Amino acid sequence: MTTHSNPTPHDPDKRVTFFDTTLRDGEQSPGIHLTTREKVEIAQQLARLGVDVIEAGFPITSPGDFEGVQTIAREVEGVTVAGLARARERDVTTAGEAVSVAERGRIHTFIATSDIHLEHKLRMDRAQVLAAAVDAVRLARSMVDDVEFSCEDSTRSDPAFVAEVIRGAIEEGATTINLPDTVGYTMPAEFQAFLIGLYERCPSLGDVTVSVHCHDDLGLAVANSLAGLHVGARQVECCVNGIGERAGNASLEEVAMILRTRAEDVGGLWCGIDTTEITRASRLVSRLTGYAVQPNKAVVGRNAFAHEAGIHQHGVLSNPLTYEIMDATSVGLAQSAIVLGKHSGRHALRHALEELGYELDPEALDHVFVRFKEVADRKGRLSAADLEALLSDEMRAEATAGLVLVELSFSGGTEQSPAARVVVRDDGGARSEGSASGDGPVDALMKAIDAAVGSSGRLLEYSVSAVTSGKDALGEARVACEIGGRTFAGQGVSTDVLEASAVAYLRAVDASRHAEAGERVAAGGV
Ligand code: KIV
Ligand code: ZN
Repeated sequence: MTTHSNPTPHDPDKRVTFFDTTLRDGEQSPGIHLTTREKVEIAQQLARLGVDVIEAGFPITSPGDFEGVQTIAREVEGVTVAGLARARERDVTTAGEAVSVAERGRIHTFIATSDIHLEHKLRMDRAQVLAAAVDAVRLARSMVDDVEFSCEDSTRSDPAFVAEVIRGAIEEGATTINLPDTVGYTMPAEFQAFLIGLYERCPSLGDVTVSVHCHDDLGLAVANSLAGLHVGARQVECCVNGIGERAGNASLEEVAMILRTRAEDVGGLWCGIDTTEITRASRLVSRLTGYAVQPNKAVVGRNAFAHEAGIHQHGVLSNPLTYEIMDATSVGLAQSAIVLGKHSGRHALRHALEELGYELDPEALDHVFVRFKEVADRKGRLSAADLEALLSDEMRAEATAGLVLVELSFSGGTEQSPAARVVVRDDGGARSEGSASGDGPVDALMKAIDAAVGSSGRLLEYSVSAVTSGKDALGEARVACEIGGRTFAGQGVSTDVLEASAVAYLRAVDASRHAEAGERVAAGGV
């Protein structure tokens, strides 16, 4: 076995394009509602990470999605920015308009090819699907040179029909053909046989980039993606932390670290990912989406590099190769050495943030500095993880400045039924106040917020975690609530977990208000 290996001479034909869909397939996960500012922040980090294509959203689905894709297309340099479109005229023209301002723009159009989708979702026959696919690709090619076409649910489709559709798409100028395992059903050998069969039935597939997009319903997304790459695919579609519809998509960091760690055993496949940016990308996506990373998650879980069992520690201390197959610095974990104290000034803060990869304009730095001082006064010392938590919390505060928690107090009530009082400020500056008692302090503060702002939320999930260890740790509260029949998530960070919980709930309420204002168009079952 070889460990800690470095990629050897690269064959250009073996380069794997990383197509990141965290902001599209990932953002479609329940409870995730990113603002444009947050999407741009993630996209900038994806660019630093070295992804080749950022699928920035699905522009037809809402004005917010359109704005997100267009802003990323305008502001993020050095990557291709893609917008998703069903195989329909207005979807394609809207996506084309959104990406037209990009340095390199791509339209990604798709239609389902499986009989079950044709019959029950699209209510179209095969001839209609074929016609829609070729029309969409032709229209997209009239707008941009870079067009990706996907056969949704391809792995459950008749391969002969998939071959016919992709032949038509390639004739109309599609430059990438994506073969998604939409429902996460296939298995590695089966997926390989499917792809090999398509190369045989449709030889022109050899002239374009073949892409794989695998969902993780059976935990096989990464294995299936690799299997596809081994038989000729050269684009992998993936998400940071493996988020995405249902069980998620192939995890970007896992595919990238396999290509790096097993470089000598992957048939020369290589990529442009700077793996030292993985940890930062993972934390940013987790904070802004509200989707926590499971502690034992490969590559980015907090235990991924912790060798806690005595026998492991002993081995690792004697020689890291006994248990470590990757070293923590290769995924950017070394940055955690940064520590600032309560006497650190603005300059030291700016320097520490720059070391973490964040360059803030003076106004943003002022905001973070005020927040830093508040926390440092209470907590004493702040680590890199604390700073990142504060920074993303500040970003979220700015993005959801609609409702701001001004005061939270607890008094009266009983031990079983504590009473909370809140004062909330809205974006017009108006203050409202609410008091309520509840089954516990969190229930009481949620009811008090509902009373203050006229909302009505039901708590589905609630968690509090420490950003770093120690009794003075910053606490991060995450909530998922049902508001008006839909799920909204919110996070808050504070040294006081009840304050963090109140902020998290208020942000979920705020997100529900934004969603109401820019209601999404039904996305057609994507
Ligand atoms: O899973 C899927 O099929 C998709 C397509 C839109 C590419 O996300
Ligand atoms: Zn998908």
